[in-house]
Amino acid sequence: RLPVVVLISGGGSNLQALIDGQLDGSLPVDIRAVISNRADAFGLERARRAGLAARVLNHRDFVSREAYDTALAALIDEYAPQLVVLAGFMRILTPAFVTHYQGRMLNIHPSLLPKFRGLHTHQRAIDAGEQEHGATVHFVTEDLDGGPAVLQARVPVLPEDDADTLAARVLQKEHLIYPLAVGWVAEGRLKLGSDGRPLLDASPLQQPLQ
Ligand code: GAR
Repeated sequence: RLPVVVLISGGGSNLQALIDGQLDGSLPVDIRAVISNRADAFGLERARRAGLAARVLNHRDFVSREAYDTALAALIDEYAPQLVVLAGFMRILTPAFVTHYQGRMLNIHPSLLPKFRGLHTHQRAIDAGEQEHGATVHFVTEDLDGGPAVLQARVPVLPEDDADTLAARVLQKEHLIYPLAVGWVAEGRLKLGSDGRPLLDASPLQQPLQ
């Protein structure tokens, strides 16, 4: 089973999907630790309930982003993961941190990248009059929310949607596609090629799978 560390900042529903997959045997991972930058993240409680190591590293305790990321990498590496999974980890990462985990770190972003990088993606999709919205799993690179995409899920934007109803619809899809992509890495089917493009079963992915 692939040793994994999951980073969170909040509710941890994507973490829960990964925990559920580990526990029911459908996802061949060993979540060795869950790390949050916020002590009040509910995802920590989910980790504890599952008997997983739940650690807090508060960014407010550090003088700079570099100092925080250095300490974070040291904490992560205590668990020797082969994959770092960002699951609602709401921090911008330093280049040194990203480079350290090059090809070994996935993120899920709540938009159909390259549309709507950054924050408030659901409201922005509504404001832009989008008819479709969704989520993207991608390898993390220095390019914020711009790393190579491996998997996307689409949902309709309905006329009566507000940001909350749309977010809930997207989250349901996130809980399907994130364990799928993590499972591919765990099974050795998905990796980042030396040219910086994702390889799925050794074939280059030109477009994210939808
Ligand atoms: C998810 O929608 C995830 O895509 C998003 O935060 C939410 C976390 O929910 N991530 C980002 O916006 C990253 N920039 P969760 O804590 O319930 O998994």
